[in-house]
Amino acid sequence: MRSIPVVMDVDTGVDDACALLLAALHPAIDLRAVTCVGGNTDVDQVTRNTLAVLEIAGRDDVVVGRGAERPLIERAVHARHVHGDDGMGDLGWARSTRDPDPRHAVQLLRDVLDASPEPVTLVPTAPMTNIALLARTHPSALRRLERIVFMGGAAQRGNATASAEFNVFHDPEATAIVLETAADLGIPVTMYGLDVFYDPTVTRDQARSLIAAGDDVARLAGELVGFQCDRFGAEQATIGDAGAVCAVIDPAGTGTTPLPVRVELAGTWSRGRTIVEMRDWTGDLAHDPHGRADAVIDVALEVDARRYADLWLETVRPGAPAPA
Ligand code: BDR
Ligand code: CA
Repeated sequence: MRSIPVVMDVDTGVDDACALLLAALHPAIDLRAVTCVGGNTDVDQVTRNTLAVLEIAGRDDVVVGRGAERPLIERAVHARHVHGDDGMGDLGWARSTRDPDPRHAVQLLRDVLDASPEPVTLVPTAPMTNIALLARTHPSALRRLERIVFMGGAAQRGNATASAEFNVFHDPEATAIVLETAADLGIPVTMYGLDVFYDPTVTRDQARSLIAAGDDVARLAGELVGFQCDRFGAEQATIGDAGAVCAVIDPAGTGTTPLPVRVELAGTWSRGRTIVEMRDWTGDLAHDPHGRADAVIDVALEVDARRYADLWLETVRPGAPAPA
């Protein structure tokens, strides 16, 4: 099997940690770099969390970059009420002894993309501040992208607000810049947003058996799920951002529809909303004074939730095939 060159941009994050384990360990993915951005918690803590997860996964070979501390315009917010005080479930795992790469994440992204002989799949599971900065400072590096599969946005309801999903709400301008630039350069984009994000779930019992399985990867994976079950008072929890990585490994598990998407940058109650064009009557479309959005992206509206949860579970269980 040819492995897919992937770069992730994360705000680790309980479910980013789930995503990192999958990307670091699945043989279909060749994880080239991970860049960090302020989001679920501050960027220093995000970087520590990311290094810790990669060490547990035995992937200290994957270069990690510290990136933007705050969004382009907004002040930084955080989601510690979701992810715990340390942003990763307060599970008490040891810090990695490794330092991040001395280059800023934006520089690292540029260097990794420029140096790649094959086109790379970019998987942001965080506010897209780093990617927007890359688009503005080194736009030619984006030409090295095969596609972008990002976790963010929603065609229906939000989570950070009734309208907006957290990653886009955190830095709406960044998302708008990335979608626009991708449209200009003809880079295919998949939006793995809230319409599918909550569906692939792992039960508390499955989490317990991962913890009992004994090795560090399985234990961390089980504890991440267990933390979410406790926090939300539920018997199962989403694998969240890991679903976006599943969509790279197994695209047929997601049902996508190409739809025009805009990001609401004004709006009192709707700032950060991804406005997904789902009307199909040409009469309305032709008379809309806004015209059609430039960015037409593959919006995930359906997911085979069992298939993705199983993909994640099979990868983090002991005995899973080692990465290439
Ligand atoms: C997204 O926001 C973060 O809290 C999660 O890590 C995920 O990327 C969900 O809205
Ligand atoms: Ca995230």
